[in-house]
Amino acid sequence: MNLRPREISLTLRLLCDSLEKTGVNASAPGRVNLLGEHTDYNDGFVLPTAIPQTTIVHLGFSPDRQHHFYSHELEELVSLTTTDPTPQSFARYLFGCLRVVEQAKYTVPPLNVYVNSSVPIGSGLSSSAALEVAFLRGLRSLFSLDFDDIRIAQLAQQAEIEYAGVQCGIMDQMASSLADTQHLLFLDTRSLDRQLLPFPIGSEILVIDSGIPRTLAESGHNQRRAECEEAARQLGVKALRDIIDITQLETLPELLKKRARHVITENNRVLEAKQGITAARFGDLMNDSHASLRDDYQVSIAGLDRLVSILQSTPDVFGARLTGAGFGGACVALVTEGKAIEIAKTVLESYRKAGYTGRLLVPEPT
Ligand code: GLA
Repeated sequence: MNLRPREISLTLRLLCDSLEKTGVNASAPGRVNLLGEHTDYNDGFVLPTAIPQTTIVHLGFSPDRQHHFYSHELEELVSLTTTDPTPQSFARYLFGCLRVVEQAKYTVPPLNVYVNSSVPIGSGLSSSAALEVAFLRGLRSLFSLDFDDIRIAQLAQQAEIEYAGVQCGIMDQMASSLADTQHLLFLDTRSLDRQLLPFPIGSEILVIDSGIPRTLAESGHNQRRAECEEAARQLGVKALRDIIDITQLETLPELLKKRARHVITENNRVLEAKQGITAARFGDLMNDSHASLRDDYQVSIAGLDRLVSILQSTPDVFGARLTGAGFGGACVALVTEGKAIEIAKTVLESYRKAGYTGRLLVPEPT
């Protein structure tokens, strides 16, 4: 339902009043993936970490029969019931979470929800997973729901697939629910076995937004997923995770062979990185990952390639790649500890000279 400005300010005042009286707060971070891109929906391995930016959700009981969702960043208020059609924008993630919680046989009364987030939107750092996980954590605490952190990630993924239309894997939601900024989260997306690992000695991460919106990310992601499922079907395996050697791909048509080759080599890169390798070797794996995403998986674009190659040729950078689904958004680099801010300045200047406008995302600019 769209409200007029006067109604918005009234509803917002009621919303804030009720949250002060009855509300709870919950938060969850965004994530950046270092290795293991487009492997999660192939039952493969991933290696993300949490970023310092978080989404905070304040929630409490609504005084009327509707849910009221307000986004501070978007300055947008959406009022609805869960029998209404799926809304657009940030509200669809909250709506999706309510629906999946209802499907899990819980009854949720009308709520007021106030969202405040520093996770960049549209940069491939999982602002939607952070919102879903934060909201589900809030519901867990408000209603004492019996959900552990894995169940929260699974419900968040279900909300994303069913109500945001992205055929995503579980990496983003697991990272938002279980990762911290001090470790890499190794995750086997089939068994959900996981391990917190240290960063390679003497390194830190740098994340730069390419400034290019991820316009094709959702459709491109769904198409790649369908191609991988077709490749697995033709190879007679449950998922591409079950292939470990690229010589097994010979029978596939050229396009599916490229897609499968990316997934298999990427899984092997994550498994190597999990062994605990030097920053230099980790960086090489990130460079190989970018080449594979560009050439075999074909989810890169000129601006991302440019930013990555500037990063890769800058001193003190061990390696760099696009991160997230691709088609725009951010790039991640592993760099010498203590050097990220200085490197970012040099890289952003060269990127600007190449005709693009990027911005530093991690370390969080002060
Ligand atoms: C998006 C999806 C994830 C994952 C990445 C690519 O972020 O939500 O599940 O597939 O793309 O690695």
